[in-house]
Amino acid sequence: MEVVTLPDGREKERLILPGRTHPTTKYLLAAVAVSFLPTSVVAEDVPAPPPEIAELVESCASCHGEAGVPVQEDAPIIWGQENYYMYVQLRDIQAGRRASELMKPVVEGLDKPTLKALTAYFSSLKWPALGFATPESDFAVAESAAVAGQCAQCHLGAWTGNSRVPRLAGQNVHYLEKTMLDYKYNRRKNAPDLAVLFRDVADDAIGSLARYAAGK
Ligand code: HEC
Ligand code: HEC
Repeated sequence: MEVVTLPDGREKERLILPGRTHPTTKYLLAAVAVSFLPTSVVAEDVPAPPPEIAELVESCASCHGEAGVPVQEDAPIIWGQENYYMYVQLRDIQAGRRASELMKPVVEGLDKPTLKALTAYFSSLKWPALGFATPESDFAVAESAAVAGQCAQCHLGAWTGNSRVPRLAGQNVHYLEKTMLDYKYNRRKNAPDLAVLFRDVADDAIGSLARYAAGK
């Protein structure tokens, strides 16, 4: 625990979640955290992973977060994301169709059953609430881009996804913007249809779409 000074000069205690903690310690930290963190970021009733992937699951937390809230700026939420979608992404990252310097070493050398066990486990967890609020000024641009791009046809009405189609609602805003720009500028090459779709969307409108989806 450390004391941080807020912008208005008040002081506040903040919990530092270590990258790796002994399960017992983690449990204690979670209990301490209850008093001042929103309940959604506290790891409650999280089912234990199958033993054969337990160590890998620990390692994912250094970027994707101990309680599903990403700690690396560009890392997406993977807790509660669609299982089959995530499996395809991990295969695409392994094969280099989706370039990621951070993720490539993580999945290198993992076999299919391990990848399947990882995505089945993470998809079974509860999606965390980051509490992002879309600024008023983004709605008009985002809604017209969403109609033009027919986002809801595939990502569904609430943008919560389905099987092969990822959930966007409430996703990390930095990640959303980066990944749409990656499609547009052909850095994420595993979905050519989306590259075509985003090619016609201005960078500013992509920013609005990201903030719109993150606030859903
Ligand atoms: C060093 C940081 C880091 C670690 C460790 C890490 N990830 Fe990631 N992960 C990322 C980043 C950053 C991205 C986004 C990559 C991009 O921009 O294309 C990502 C993307 C993903 C995606 C794609 C999600 C989506 O919405 O498309 C999945 C699935 C994933 N990671 C699973 C895992 C699993 C499972 C582990 C542990 C075995 C893990 N990651 C460990 C940083 C990390
Ligand atoms: C024809 C169906 C379809 C439409 C229309 C569509 N998407 Fe998608 N979207 C997908 C699929 C399938 C994926 C996963 C592609 C992959 O494997 O990379 C995806 C991926 C994404 C991702 C990456 C999510 C992640 O976790 O990495 C974002 C962001 C996204 N779409 C936003 C949008 C927005 C915004 C619109 C509307 C402007 C839109 N999509 C329209 C099917 C669609």
